[in-house]
Amino acid sequence: MKYILITQNMPSPMVYSLHMAKVKRTPLVIGNWKMHPATLEAAKRLGKDVVTKALKARGTASCDIGIAVPTLYFDEIGKITKGKPIMLGAQNAAAGAVGAETGEVSAGMLAERRAAFVIVGHSERRARGEDNAQVTARAAGVLAAKMIPVVCIGEQSRDAEGDFYHIVHEQLDAVFANLGGTAATRVVVAYEPVWAIGTGLTPTAEDVSTMRLAIKKYLHEKYGDAVANKVRVLYGGSVTEENALEFMQNGMIDGFLVGGASLEAVRFAVIIKACIA
Ligand code: 13P
Repeated sequence: MKYILITQNMPSPMVYSLHMAKVKRTPLVIGNWKMHPATLEAAKRLGKDVVTKALKARGTASCDIGIAVPTLYFDEIGKITKGKPIMLGAQNAAAGAVGAETGEVSAGMLAERRAAFVIVGHSERRARGEDNAQVTARAAGVLAAKMIPVVCIGEQSRDAEGDFYHIVHEQLDAVFANLGGTAATRVVVAYEPVWAIGTGLTPTAEDVSTMRLAIKKYLHEKYGDAVANKVRVLYGGSVTEENALEFMQNGMIDGFLVGGASLEAVRFAVIIKACIA
């Protein structure tokens, strides 16, 4: 099976160090609100609820928290998160600074509105035709605007031969191929298998930890241990308050990119608790 080859070549001390390195990174939990909620008033209510409950759940523990809200809600949600340790993020950004790009918003514009991170390459964007080259350009734009790109990668479906590892590898390589080590450490990788998004289906924690290892192996080979150890790898796809702990403990990941469950502050808070347990 091809996927075994991906991890097989890895010397066991490296497997060990990559697993152990997990302990040193601060977990990151991001709520991706997608195109929700329907009104600004509802968004403000949700924003206040999320800020209160998420910060209470985190307490004094070390855990980064972010919410990726619809761009139009930025300013009002920004007032709620202002001065609080919750990062505001966007769900996409154009690669260029300005241009004839109807409907697009640039990374610079988002940074000016105090965005700290931007999700790029989400499968719901890729499904609308964004390819690896565009995702790479968008991620570069986000880095140039001094924000964190949260780069989504993930297969449409799984096959017994493990060919899906090569799809994920291509998506990863597109973004990192021309990126220096320092810039690479600022990228967050979100592994989101498309078949698990919004479906209630999930890979096993072992599947996730093997994919994480494949991602780390790629980064290790390209940049060496120091950079590979710094890049955070999140999991996304039907994350709930019920499965989060299992993914954290046995999936060896650094946190989550949460869709549906991030629209309910209580559920989002339980997921944060799982990250610091
Ligand atoms: P769900 O958590 O609703 O499956 O969505 C995952 C996702 O797409 C987050 O970006």
